[in-house]
Amino acid sequence: MSARFAIEKLAMAHKRDDFTCGNNQIDSYFRETVSQDVKRKYATCFVAREIATDRVAGFYTLSSSNVPLTEVPEPLAKKLPRYPTVPAVLIGWLGRHSDYAGQGLGEALLFDAIKTVATAPIGAHAIFADAIDDQAAAFYAAFGFAPLMRRPRTLYLPVATALRLLSP
Ligand SMILES: CC(C)(COP(=O)(O)OP(=O)(O)OC[C@H]1O[C@@H](n2cnc3c(N)ncnc32)[C@H](O)[C@@H]1OP(=O)(O)O)[C@@H](O)C(=O)NCCC(=O)NCCS
Repeated sequence: MSARFAIEKLAMAHKRDDFTCGNNQIDSYFRETVSQDVKRKYATCFVAREIATDRVAGFYTLSSSNVPLTEVPEPLAKKLPRYPTVPAVLIGWLGRHSDYAGQGLGEALLFDAIKTVATAPIGAHAIFADAIDDQAAAFYAAFGFAPLMRRPRTLYLPVATALRLLSP
């Protein structure tokens, strides 16, 4: 996987206008809006570029955020300090071009996002993800993300647990 794709920060050279992952909302966000969010520092965006063709095969965004402690699933919550919120990073958007379906690229993007968060010099206890639909929620759940108490399409994983996924 890593030999075929380079995962790098979104740049002007990345061609986005034909990106399609099978979800219109994600496609139009990536084609039309993401660069404005990056410019305003509301998000960072990383793309998987197929090295041989220079095509954009997938992307994800990260934003600083937090999760109310009252929404963290038990028993995770009871191990945490009693601060009202848990410092976290949000995977706001993640998509893989349909031409690369089922080749492990979605997983590679997710693992890269986890690694980026875990190695950033800023405290973030957890990584959480906004799933666009139930299938997307199932994708995150397959990697151990747990739904928040009152928002089942927002899923949560402690960074320490995520790191164990990366080096089993
Ligand atoms: C979700 C998505 C990123 C998965 O990408 P992908 O490249 O097809 O997935 P991978 O090939 O990396 O699959 C990795 C593993 O996740 C599993 N998986 C993939 N999609 C899944 C789903 N919807 N539910 C449960 N498991 C799923 C695969 O079975 C695979 O497990 P395996 O290694 O045991 O076989 C892709 O389908 C996509 O871009 N969908 C549209 C946008 C979207 O839903 N984004 C999610 C965030 S909003």
